[in-house]
Amino acid sequence: MSDVKGKVLKHGEQTRTMHWLHLICFLILGLTGIGFYWNIGWINDLFGGPANASLVHRWTAVVFTAGPAIYILLNFERFSKFIDTISTFTRDDIQWLKTMGGYIPFLKGKVPPQDKYNAGQKILGWVVILGCLLFILTGFPMWLWRHAVSPAFLDFCYTVHFWDAMIMMLAVLGHFFLAAIHPQSRVEFSSMMLDGYVDAGVTAHHNAKWFANLSKLE
Ligand code: HEM
Repeated sequence: MSDVKGKVLKHGEQTRTMHWLHLICFLILGLTGIGFYWNIGWINDLFGGPANASLVHRWTAVVFTAGPAIYILLNFERFSKFIDTISTFTRDDIQWLKTMGGYIPFLKGKVPPQDKYNAGQKILGWVVILGCLLFILTGFPMWLWRHAVSPAFLDFCYTVHFWDAMIMMLAVLGHFFLAAIHPQSRVEFSSMMLDGYVDAGVTAHHNAKWFANLSKLE
C-alpha cells in the first residue's frame, strides 16, 4: 500500500456525533416506517403499538432534521468545503467510477488518485442530501399540513416519501457494506464511527490528493 507511518485526523468530534445521531434517527425512522406501512405487529409492538410508532416516527424526524441543521450552522465553513468537494468531479473521478476504485474484482484498470472523498462517496453524499431533503419536504406536510393541502398533493407526498425510503434504505445498506464489511474499504471505519483517525498509509493511497495537500500544510 504505502510506507507512510502514523495516523491522520479525518473527521472531527462534531462531525462524528452528527453522523451517529443521523444514523440512529435513520434506523428508528426506517423501522417505524416499515412497521406501520406493512402493519408488522412485532415492529409496532417494539414502539408500544402503531399509534406510538407513528409518534416516535414524527418526533425522531424532528431530531433527524434539527441535528444536521444545527451542525451546519455551527460548522458552516466545514460544510461549505464538504459541498465543494463532493460537487467537484474531475477526470480522475470519472476514471475512478469506471474502475469502481478497484473494489470489484473483475473491473480492472489503474485507480486514479482521489480527494478527501472518492467519486463513489461524492455521489453517495449527494444521494443522502437530496434524499433527506425529500423526506423533510414530504414528511412535514404529511404530518402538519395534511388538512391544509389538497388530497392529490398529500397522495403525492406519501408516494414520494415511500419510494424515497426504499431507495435510501438500499443506499444506506450499500454504504454499510463498503464502510463496515468490504475488506479494502472498511479500513476507514474508525475515522467516522470511533476516534476520527485513519491510518496515514491508507489515506496516502486511498485519498492521495487530499493527503498531498495535508502534507503541504504541515
Ligand atoms: C424529516 C423526516 C421525516 C418526516 C417528517 C416523516 C414523517 C412521516 C409521516 C408524517 C408519515 C405518515 C405516517 C404517520 O402518520 O406517522 C411517514 C410515513 C413513512 N415514513 Fe417518514 N418521515 C421522515 C423521515 C423518514 C425516513 C428517514 C424514513 C426511512 C428511512 C421514513 C420512512 C417512512 C415510511 C416507510 C412511511 C410509510 C410510507 C407511506 O405511508 O406511504 N420516513 N413519515
